[in-house]
Amino acid sequence: MIGLRPKSQILSYRYLGSLQTSSASRGDLRKTHGVRILNKQTNFVTCPIYYATSTPHIGHIHSSVIGDFYHRWNKINDVPSKFSIGTDEHGQKIIRSAAQQGYDHPELLVNNISDLYRRTFKKFSISVASLDDAIYMRTTNPEHHEAAQKLWSRLRSKGHIRIKNYEGWYSTPDESFVGNKEIVEKDGKHFSSVNGHQLEWISEENYIFDFEPFLSEIEAWIEKAVTPDVAKVLIDELKERRNTGNTSLSISRPRKRVPWGVAVPDDPNHTMYVWFEALINYLTAAGYARHENALDFWPPQLQVLGIDIARFHCIYWPAMLLAADLPLPKKVFVHGHWTRNGMKMSKSLDNFVTPKELLELVGNQSDAVRWFCLKHATLKNVDFQDELLRIQSDSDLANKIANLLSRTTSKNLNPSGAYPTLFPDSLLDRPDGEKYLIETVQELPEVYAKFVDQGQLPSAMNCVIRAVEEGLQFMTNEKIFKLDRDIKSERMQKDSAIHACYELLRVSAILLQPAIPQISSKILNRLGIPLENRFYEDAEDSFSGMDGDQFERVGRLLGPNQGHLFKTSALVKKEIEQMAKFEAQELARYDKKHPTRTAPENEIKNTGRKQKERIKQKARAKMAEIKAARDAKKPLDRRQGDMSAEELNMDLHDPNFRAPDFPNRK
Ligand code: MSP
Repeated sequence: MIGLRPKSQILSYRYLGSLQTSSASRGDLRKTHGVRILNKQTNFVTCPIYYATSTPHIGHIHSSVIGDFYHRWNKINDVPSKFSIGTDEHGQKIIRSAAQQGYDHPELLVNNISDLYRRTFKKFSISVASLDDAIYMRTTNPEHHEAAQKLWSRLRSKGHIRIKNYEGWYSTPDESFVGNKEIVEKDGKHFSSVNGHQLEWISEENYIFDFEPFLSEIEAWIEKAVTPDVAKVLIDELKERRNTGNTSLSISRPRKRVPWGVAVPDDPNHTMYVWFEALINYLTAAGYARHENALDFWPPQLQVLGIDIARFHCIYWPAMLLAADLPLPKKVFVHGHWTRNGMKMSKSLDNFVTPKELLELVGNQSDAVRWFCLKHATLKNVDFQDELLRIQSDSDLANKIANLLSRTTSKNLNPSGAYPTLFPDSLLDRPDGEKYLIETVQELPEVYAKFVDQGQLPSAMNCVIRAVEEGLQFMTNEKIFKLDRDIKSERMQKDSAIHACYELLRVSAILLQPAIPQISSKILNRLGIPLENRFYEDAEDSFSGMDGDQFERVGRLLGPNQGHLFKTSALVKKEIEQMAKFEAQELARYDKKHPTRTAPENEIKNTGRKQKERIKQKARAKMAEIKAARDAKKPLDRRQGDMSAEELNMDLHDPNFRAPDFPNRK
């Protein structure tokens, strides 16, 4: 006999207990030399800051969707949350990129690109606004300069920074010196064995950060905070470093070579190494520039990053925090990479999967891309295929979730247009003898939460889909449509089945809000669920009519029909074709009526091939303009934010470029 499950008093959030900042103990406070945390309850989720060199691609969307997922997860658990994301805007890579793209000054490039990233993130419902408790971080922001300089001074005053001559092979695309083991020589040139980037020999006086004293603490932290597969590799690296004495990091660059950066305090001849400075963005977000000894919130509950930047986040970054006596992040979520046709995506291959391409594939339904990323949020690399994206979203979002909602809310099936009554004894049995859906739906929040808290996002997404499948089977196998409302027992069975499916959809949609916010909100609107009942604890409370009490949702009117919850790729294709057909007909009609006049462009909605051709033509013209301006050495006249993705994808690589001495900010 299945009874009512008492509403849990403790949020599923208990699983995240170990990640919560509020768990900072007295010991932590003593160790942090009295750094006060103003909002101890606030959980802080971070995403990497992206190089503002060129346009975003699927990899950037991927890290961001995962971070945004956890931020939204905090929110539906009613836990205060802050989220940081943004752009990494200094360094040699930026200087070169700006010059290659015909910019007069790196600042013009980073303004454009940062703006482009922010707009792109918005398209994918990734939180970037302060209203959503997001901090959009830009490292050119003076507050970040101040934070970086404060941390530098703190490490210097504690004796962790010294100056020395430093030389080695340097990879500009990675903004990093490369160890001997990772160098290959070919035709007298040197390349990174990890990613093939060409290296340059650099010998210069730099400031050095010594992290030898922290190796053991870092190792212990990695074991706790990082998933075992990645932890093993990192710990091996730590051991190797300990054995070879490779335990320092060069953290400055001569200002002459890299003028575009944060000035080293009290030394006008140096700027900070961009990685050292970029990592500090997380502290900037927490208010480090304003109150060095009283942070708004800290440490991060979760830091999301790709495997390629694990070394920076899991070795150098904890070393910097330990050197500054600051608490370390609670957890690190490391994900793998998207490849295309089995190849790494790169500028030279020009094989990036762009946000535009992604959105076109799914008819602008960005939730499909979020879903796709989350279904592949593992450590493994995944090869991107158009079909995979289409099939997964068609199958899960359209054929399962949307299908169940439209079937069960149709006037035919539920003429009352309200949440029907559940008659526990009339709810049909599954072939295994258990009642349909009750157990599945009641267990779903806990199962889902466990996966989420363990970082197993694909399993979390799949467990909801399995539950929805049970709903669909229920409707089909038991032929709920055929039950006759004029026969009392069948009417009771029908209403109970609909009620159970609504409970399933309600609980699923609450849980999926962090994953597919637009679709979830449409489901909850359609079911008439008030905003204040869309929290995790509301998902924990399902089938409360089972114990015979008046069930609060029963009899409540459904919300308005939300139109298509999700359009299949076939439908999207059909709509585009219809639009193109309409456009062609309209042009033909116009030509016939006005044989001597050309149709004004904006009268006709451009779609498909024609639109693409027009964009390409524009991009070609712009490229020619930029090239001509470069040849004539004339600065281009640009307004902020007016760059199209196409022009930013240009690759005018010039490895010999050296930047002029830009005036620095500070
Ligand atoms: N600016 C540094 C990060 C500094 S954080 C203090 C950087 N930027 S990046 O733009 O190159 O990459 C940022 C994120 O995008 C990383 O998490 C990286 O793993 C992710 N991706 C970049 N390419 C990717 C794929 N092809 N696939 C999945 N994610 C990848 O590194």
